[in-house]
Amino acid sequence: MAALSPVPGGRYIDATLGGGGHAQALLAASGPDGLLLGLDADPRAIDRVTKRLAAFESRITLVQSNFRHLARIAQEHGFEQVDGILLDLGVSSFHLDEAEQGFSFRQDGPLDMRMNPDSGPSAADLVNTLDAEELADILYRYGEERRSRRIARAIIAHRPINSTTQLADIIVGAIGRKPGARLHPATRTFQALRIAVNDELGALEAVLPQALQLLKPNGVLAVITFHSLEDRIVKHYFHHESRDCICPPRSPVCTCGHRAQIKELRRKGIIPSPTEMIQNPRSRSARLRAARKLSTH
Ligand SMILES: C[S@@+](CC[C@H](N)C(=O)[O-])C[C@H]1O[C@@H](n2cnc3c(N)ncnc32)[C@H](O)[C@@H]1O
Repeated sequence: MAALSPVPGGRYIDATLGGGGHAQALLAASGPDGLLLGLDADPRAIDRVTKRLAAFESRITLVQSNFRHLARIAQEHGFEQVDGILLDLGVSSFHLDEAEQGFSFRQDGPLDMRMNPDSGPSAADLVNTLDAEELADILYRYGEERRSRRIARAIIAHRPINSTTQLADIIVGAIGRKPGARLHPATRTFQALRIAVNDELGALEAVLPQALQLLKPNGVLAVITFHSLEDRIVKHYFHHESRDCICPPRSPVCTCGHRAQIKELRRKGIIPSPTEMIQNPRSRSARLRAARKLSTH
């Protein structure tokens, strides 16, 4: 909220409603007349937030959509030139806690992992149809899993795989469990499948320029990431758009004509304090990056 510094009458977009916590805070701080456009790919999040924020009904517009379509949706609802946009990436606590959505290896559920249950192939579709090389590639790229080939071979050997705990057990069988290790052996594979199923990195790359375009001068884009692959995309985008010239370092004169569009609020972003990490362990890997749109553009 400090980064977005909402003001009465302001117009805001929360592109990742989740449980509606940030949306509620934005509405409260921009009252009595601030407006909020909220998106979530997951229809269950829209239902939840519709109920939670019923008191703000006249000030909110909620749309079930992937944020990769942000520009079109904002335009359709008259949300151009906004004061602030928030992206709080990844899955919500609801996804992790509800076994039937298949995101958690700690509870048994169908191997699904789709944020929007009506779209595209599920995690079970991927593990049961891809070949070993394609699977290993997903685990390595999106989970930074060094033992990707071994896990991929074990997956192929045990197909069909339909439940979360079945997959977790296969991974433990393939790579073992190191005593005292902080991460469960299935953590990286589950992260990788989730990112692939929802094309999370593709959606992030698509939304950043649209978000910047929708901001009015001095408007703020705030992005909370939860792992290094997401953070790298946001960091590079912010660094790139906060520089005037992007010519190769040895060029004698500037030929690119690139102009800075934003100013980063803190170059390294903001991470949770040790106290916050204890109070909310799921914040452990979060990093907030925020940037203000320059008024000359
Ligand atoms: C970390 S949660 C957000 C929590 C929220 N800020 C709150 O206060 O409760 C992320 C949410 O974003 C949604 N989401 C993730 N990627 C999305 C995308 N590409 N398009 C739309 N929604 C997305 C997920 O379904 C999930 O509900």
